[in-house]
Amino acid sequence: MNAPVVAVPAPSEPHVMQTYGRLPIALSHGQGCWVWDVNGRRYLDGLGGIAVNTLGHAHPRLVPALQEQVAKLIHTSNYYHVPLQEELAAKLCELSGLDVAFFCNSGLEANEAALKIARKFGHDRGNHNPELLVFDGAFHGRSIATLSATANPKIHAGFGPLVPGFVRVPLNDIAAVEAALKAHPNITGIFLETIQGEGGVNPARIEFLQGLRRICDEHDILLMLDEVQCGIGRTGKWFAHQWAGIRPDVMPLAKGLGSGVPIGAVVCGPRAAKVMQPGNHGTTFGGNPLAMRAGVETLKIMSEDNLLTNAAEVGAVLKTALQEGLSGVAGVNEIRGQGLMLGIELDRPCGALLLRAAEAGLMISVTADRVVRLVPPLILSADEARQIATLLVPVIKTFLSEPKP
Ligand SMILES: Cc1ncc(COP(=O)(O)O)c(C=O)c1O
Repeated sequence: MNAPVVAVPAPSEPHVMQTYGRLPIALSHGQGCWVWDVNGRRYLDGLGGIAVNTLGHAHPRLVPALQEQVAKLIHTSNYYHVPLQEELAAKLCELSGLDVAFFCNSGLEANEAALKIARKFGHDRGNHNPELLVFDGAFHGRSIATLSATANPKIHAGFGPLVPGFVRVPLNDIAAVEAALKAHPNITGIFLETIQGEGGVNPARIEFLQGLRRICDEHDILLMLDEVQCGIGRTGKWFAHQWAGIRPDVMPLAKGLGSGVPIGAVVCGPRAAKVMQPGNHGTTFGGNPLAMRAGVETLKIMSEDNLLTNAAEVGAVLKTALQEGLSGVAGVNEIRGQGLMLGIELDRPCGALLLRAAEAGLMISVTADRVVRLVPPLILSADEARQIATLLVPVIKTFLSEPKP
């Protein structure tokens, strides 16, 4: 049984820069899909460290592999060959059908690499003012360039001037894409999340993705699919665009690839694979042996344990349980998403649900103001999926029964 709800006072952290609105909870340890706080209270992890902890917590095969790697070699620099880089790159290429991978440390760094590739792709062809097509609702990171590609004005606020060279159109509107390409002949790539995460779990439709592939081929420009959040098995395929039967030219990855160890990658197909040449790009930490081992072991365990199938099947159990529990509840606009990337859109801002869900023993996220997002570990069992719904549905119902704030 769970310990009773204790109001944990916000820890005093005078030396930590206050960039986060944190919950008053301090975590201690985890096991599988469960996490404990310092007061011994247990939470079911519907958040997975924001789509990061693919294998949950303290995975019995990942932990010894990482312990062994830490004892052997953590970091060397990219002055030398790191054999594990080729092992992980080869696996990512095999799974994606693409050709080469560059390794970095986070999602925004993977996107920065992708943006540099798109610009250089233009310059290499004599286009010295390359632009990129991006979308309403997009989130690509918080560096100056990736926040400029991001749509949310709250993320821009206070950080102007933004990086120029982004043309923005609505998602899933192929006519708008075609019109933008006519109006902006310098566009060298189309850059989007296959499923928008921070924007509220908004999928690019299959026909839209297929249309973008066709348009990029016709114009000889790059299709760049940010799979930082939706990739690595989360939707039930290795990469979410595989549901559309297409391949991107450039695919940034991060989050779930290291199952918690910081890692990023940008994987490129033939049109983009040779754009970067020695000296064009680099990173100190990127591709270090520890992160590479985490990536190799994560993908291996995912294959051995059929976690793609699990994500699809358990995701369906969770979605159905949520649909049943919330059916007919006024204020629930839509339940959407695929596999273990689900969003429940409400008719009002619902940030307050974070603490209420935690008080009920569940970790969730709220994004785009009014969307409850569930991105749990891919090892989630069907029983745990039903428990998520059992914990979450009453919390949402109570919240929606109250007057709108
Ligand atoms: C689609 C997408 N791209 C990029 C990022 C940025 O990744 P990071 O926070 O690792 O820099 C995120 C983070 O949420 C994301 O969801």
